[in-house]
Formats: sequence, structure tokens, C-alpha cells
Amino acid sequence: MKIVVLGAGYVGLTTSACLADLGHSVTCCDIDPQRIAALQSARVPIFEPGLSELIAQQMQAERLHFTTDANMAANDADAVFLAVGTPSDRDGDIDLSYVETAAQAIAPYLPSAAVIVLKSTVVAGTARRVKSLVDASRGGGDIAVASNPEFLREGTAIKDFLHADRIVIGADDARSEAVLRMIYAPLALRGIPILATETVNAELIKYAANALLALKIGFINDVADLCERLGGDVTAVADGIGRDHRIGGAFLAAGPGFGGSCFPMDTRAFASSGRRHGAQQPLVETLIERNEARKQALAARIIEAAPRHGRVAILGTSFKANTDDVREAAALTIVPLLVAAGLSVHLHDPQPDAAKRLLSNVQWHGTALGALKDADLAVVLTEWDQYRTLDLPKVARAMAGNTLLDLRNIIDPERAAGAGLNYQGLGRAPLAAAPARRGHGGTAMAQLAASPA
Ligand SMILES: NC(=O)c1ccc[n+]([C@@H]2O[C@H](COP(=O)([O-])OP(=O)(O)OC[C@H]3O[C@@H](n4cnc5c(N)ncnc54)[C@H](O)[C@@H]3O)[C@@H](O)[C@H]2O)c1
Repeated sequence: MKIVVLGAGYVGLTTSACLADLGHSVTCCDIDPQRIAALQSARVPIFEPGLSELIAQQMQAERLHFTTDANMAANDADAVFLAVGTPSDRDGDIDLSYVETAAQAIAPYLPSAAVIVLKSTVVAGTARRVKSLVDASRGGGDIAVASNPEFLREGTAIKDFLHADRIVIGADDARSEAVLRMIYAPLALRGIPILATETVNAELIKYAANALLALKIGFINDVADLCERLGGDVTAVADGIGRDHRIGGAFLAAGPGFGGSCFPMDTRAFASSGRRHGAQQPLVETLIERNEARKQALAARIIEAAPRHGRVAILGTSFKANTDDVREAAALTIVPLLVAAGLSVHLHDPQPDAAKRLLSNVQWHGTALGALKDADLAVVLTEWDQYRTLDLPKVARAMAGNTLLDLRNIIDPERAAGAGLNYQGLGRAPLAAAPARRGHGGTAMAQLAASPA
């Protein structure tokens, strides 16, 4: 089928490359000419494992094209996927102007049987609202508007798209359901369930799913705090909880609070939608507050653990591993607070470009060991694999202090202690260096033990 995708961000590019991989002819459009120029030369402006390779392959097969001229691409399209941004405003509502503008702008150029598909995450009722805007801009009701929420996670986006647990089709008419079923037929043949429902339900499925996943994260973070008080280990508790198939082990890793482009924005929009429609979502309202407070509490904990004007190495600024995305990353809250407290902050991330644009008065290093050199305190903030396999004796030798604060619980405490580091994870008992390597680690550990987040 002929498909146009509006938006060449994480979702738009993954959707474009994967739909081309399924055999469709895809044109991906963006209003950012530099982004499109880069893509036309097969240079992918975001980091997502496997995406560059898949895009290059599909371009070579001539199933994937990039342009800034969406209207031209639209004139024989079977479907137009909207994968444009939906940022939050200050009240937590999402800004639908990109979605509405894109739909209205392309509508006059579409052939009669085309379907506009909302891939962007939007509040319930948006597809119906967009349908009325499109009808008005065409002066007729021939274009269908459907919802097809995206559940991919950055870092595993291609796998999530091509091996989804389910594909949700929101359609208020038979034609748009049929077009979407045809588009996803190759995945349905591989056994992926297709759930077709009304647009309002599809829109709610996306928000309710993300709110529930974020609640799991918030819950395990609260359990981690209790584990610390009681001398327990949240990793063992999470393992025991997660093996109950009714609960599942995913999203049960204690950490510095959720970030990224989805959970913070989607929980705010869900809560705000509840307020607006007189159906409050108090669990989610509390979650949002607790999540932000957690980032601040962890910053206070780092400040307390570090010597005055000391040097702190932060490993990881992306909101999670395997992405360069720093939208609402814990680092964006924590690092400025450390800088404001007079600490000298040394950063490393394998994909630092976006963070470099946003964090000031810090020093960047090309390697983790470079950031750790002469540090009084080391903090693991993102769960990149390369931090799991750090050469800990080397780390201990490079640092001036010997305290390692592992805010992702990715380092083996015994291995850290064996290397001469005082280890402190989240929701697990601190483990002192064996044997104590330097004089001032004990003080830092005492401070850490006294101030759980
Ligand atoms: N990133 C994720 O993990 C993820 C997962 C599921 C759903 N979503 C949702 O998908 C949507 C897109 O997210 P993203 O992370 O890909 O955003 P993004 O910011 O990475 O990309 C959005 C792109 O849309 C472009 N754009 C804006 N207006 C346009 C227009 N009129 N025509 C063409 N292009 C236009 C922008 O220039 C930008 O490149 C959001 O609603 C988001 O909530 C994101």
C-alpha cells in the first residue's frame, strides 16, 4: 500500500522503516529540512539500535523515501500516519496543535478513499475532533480518521514494532478498519493479535497502559525505600513479585524515577483528562508528584554523600539505556542541582549529544573512566551495558574517593566491595569496601546509609 508518514522522529522513523520492511511503499515527511536532507543521504539523526541499517536497506530497495513535500506525496496515498510530537503544556495537558495542523494541512491533497491514522499519543476524543477539522478543511466527510497508538520503547523500537504484543486499531468506520488490517496483515500472519475497537477506546488503551506501567515503576521505587529502611534487597523482592504471572517482572526495577518522552507526559495528560472530565485519577496524580520528588531526593542524597566542592562522576544522562533521548531524564533534574550545590560534575554517556545541549557548567568525558578520574563520588544514573561491565579495580584506582552510588542496581555489590569500593545501591543494604582502600569512604557511606531516598 502507499503510505505517508508525517514526522521523522523516533516513532515516525521506526514506523516508516518497519512499514517499508513489511513491503509497503512509504514516504516519510518532516517539516525540518535539515532532518530530511540528512535522511535523504541515509544519515539518521537519532540513535536507535538497528534503525540506520533498516532505513538504508529500505531506501536501497526503493520502498522508503524522505521529503519535506508532504502534499505531493499525499496525492495517491492509501493512508497517512501522523507521528508528530504532542508536547505537554504547563497544566499537564498535551498540545494537539501539531497533530491538528498536520491533519488539516494534508487533508485537501488526499484522494477520497484515504485514511488519516493517528500514531501520535493523543487524549481520548482526538480522532473524532480531527475528523471534524478534516471534514471542514475538505468541505466533505470522505476522509476517515483512525487511531493506531504506538507501544514501542526507545532502545528496542524495531523489535517492539515488528513483534508487538498486540496492534490496536481504533476505527469508527469499516473502511478505516479494513485499510489498517490490510497494512498490518503481514504482522497478523505472524500471529500478532489485532484488536479493533472504537477510536475513543484505542486512545484510552494507550494512556491507561502507560499509566499502569508507570505505576509499577513508582510502586517498586517506594518498595525500594522501605527495603533500605528494613535492610532488605529490592532486587530480590522485585524478582519474587515479578515471577507471579499475574504481575510480571517488567517495569519492576528500582531507579531514579521514570523519564523520557512518554511516561511523564502521558501520565500528566491522563490525570489532566480525568480532572477535566470529572473522573479524577488520584493514583496517577500521586505518582506524578512522587516521581518528581524522587529525582530531587536523589540529588540531595548525592550532595550529602559528596565532600563540599567535591568532584562527582555521573555515568549516564540518557533517560534509559540504548537511546540518546534525554527528554525528562533524571539527569536533567539531578545534574543542575549538583552544580548549584557547588559540586564539580563530570559526565559520561555513550550518546551524549542531546544532553550536551541541555546541561551547562559541567565537564564531559569521552570515556567512563575519564569521568571517574579523581572523582570523590561515582553515580550510575543510566543502565547502559558498558557500566554493568566496568573494570571496577580500575575504577577504584582512578577515583580519589571510593563511593559508588548505583541508582540502577546494575553493579554487583560484592564485586564492587571486592574492588575496594564502598557500594550503595537503591533499596539494598550498603556494602563497605573490603579492605577499606582510603580514609574518607566511611564517612560517605555513613551519610548514604542515613539518607535513603
Ligand atoms: N518516543 C517514544 O518512545 C514514543 C512511543 C510511543 C508513542 N510516542 C508518541 O509518538 C508521537 C511522536 O513522538 P516522537 O518521540 O517520535 O517525537 P519526536 O519529537 O521525536 O518527532 C516528532 C517529529 O515531528 C515533526 N513534525 C512536527 N510537525 C510536523 C508536520 N506538520 N509535518 C511533518 N512533521 C512534523 C517534528 O519536526 C519532529 O521531527 C508523540 O505523540 C509521542 O507521545 C512516542
